[in-house]
Amino acid sequence: MNKIDVVELLATSPTGQTVTVQGWVRSRRDSKAGLSFIALYDGTCFDTLQVIAGKTLDNYQSDVQRLSSGFAVQITGTLVASEGQGQSVEVQATQVTIVGEVDDPEQYPIAKKRHTFEYLRQVAHLRPRTNAFGAISRVRSTLASSIHRYFSERRFQWVNTPLITTSDCEGAGELFRVSTLDALNPPKNDAGKVDFDKDFFAREAYLTVSGQLNAESYALALSKVYTFGPTFRAENSNTSRHLAEFWMVEPEMAFADLDDNAALAEDFLTYLFKAVLEEREDDMAFFAQRIDKDALTRLQHVAESSFERMDYSEAIVLLEKSGKSFEYPVSWGLDLQSEHERWLAEEHVGRPIILQNYPKEIKAFYMRENDDGKTVAAMDVLAPGIGEIIGGSQREERLSVLDAKLAARGLTEELDWYRDLRRYGSAPHSGFGMGFERVLNYITGMENIRDAIPFPRVPRSAPF
Ligand code: 4AD
Ligand code: MG
Repeated sequence: MNKIDVVELLATSPTGQTVTVQGWVRSRRDSKAGLSFIALYDGTCFDTLQVIAGKTLDNYQSDVQRLSSGFAVQITGTLVASEGQGQSVEVQATQVTIVGEVDDPEQYPIAKKRHTFEYLRQVAHLRPRTNAFGAISRVRSTLASSIHRYFSERRFQWVNTPLITTSDCEGAGELFRVSTLDALNPPKNDAGKVDFDKDFFAREAYLTVSGQLNAESYALALSKVYTFGPTFRAENSNTSRHLAEFWMVEPEMAFADLDDNAALAEDFLTYLFKAVLEEREDDMAFFAQRIDKDALTRLQHVAESSFERMDYSEAIVLLEKSGKSFEYPVSWGLDLQSEHERWLAEEHVGRPIILQNYPKEIKAFYMRENDDGKTVAAMDVLAPGIGEIIGGSQREERLSVLDAKLAARGLTEELDWYRDLRRYGSAPHSGFGMGFERVLNYITGMENIRDAIPFPRVPRSAPF
């Protein structure tokens, strides 16, 4: 059987050759002349293939006339040039076989042409069949391959960091516990406390919030590494930017300072934007048409221009002078909220900003302290419409400075292995974490992060 993907067929020059395709019916429409026009998709591209089935087919009445959205079919026919609008080729069917029926077309949960994204989240197992989720899935996959290609071309090694860990890298306490103890009736020790000695690892363990600490150990041996995998945060934030399970890309470079880090972040993002624009033109055209009319031009513009760089201190002055009434207060020493980040990126600059050198009190223990004694060499990349898409820093490579921070947080013992990295051949090093789904939303213009991952996990909802 000469079975061909739809994307390949659509690019083939039609010479009357016989072809076989397998896929699903998007729609069927009949002409008065006894012809059925079937739009067929197989997910390999945005466009559907037009199939024309005529009443001369044996099973025209019994099968073709029953086809509706969602039927799985196999079609054999002749590939010809199309005179219709919107497609260059079409298949004149000589054989239409129903592979899988739709039980009750009236009840097919996604039969209607347009559904709200909110509704589609309730049928997350069927939503990949829609135009929008087909497009998101392909862009997501392209983005992932581009990430690996980018790093591979630059000699970064992919390191697989553990998902189960004992440390809270970000120190925010947003951890999911991993335990084999009976949660409702855990064993207690003499002091009446939960006896973690009886747990699987004989201590408390969690799902990782970031692979960074482990990535640092590999960067200080392989020079340039990156992680790319799922991370977990039990943040109780029911927002359009937070997931409990999300994917993060974390490059880590030895012999690199904050400037090198910022340069990598900009170069990396720009590369990804260009790759998606080039490789997923069809899907991006859909987003521009249906989701966010500016998505495409904005991305093209950003891919060609440089990111703004700004110090946290300068951003605070700008926010204070903006005259905007923000919900949350702004003053030096406070963390920026999403509304502030968005004002800076969207209204003030109009393109991504790399914000640097934050107050040390609001940042994680591993960030390198600056000479001013007040700030750390941190950086966040803020994107218009989204806010923070990357968070990173130069790491504290000086053992004595790191020790003071660990001691203040009671982490000295637990992170003794991490101290080894500063004891033996320490070197300046830097890295960042890019929120994969946030970048996907930035690229596509999709609003809710729950639509950027196949099966979203958020507070009080993980039904699939
Ligand atoms: O800024 P964060 O917390 O940085 C770290 O975890 C560092 N250890 C990374 C590093 O330096 N290697 O998280 C990094 C990025 C954020 O900028 C954001 O894009 C994304 O991860 N992120 C989330 N995305 C979806 N849902 C959540 N709950 C997220 N929390 C963070
Ligand atoms: Mg952050």
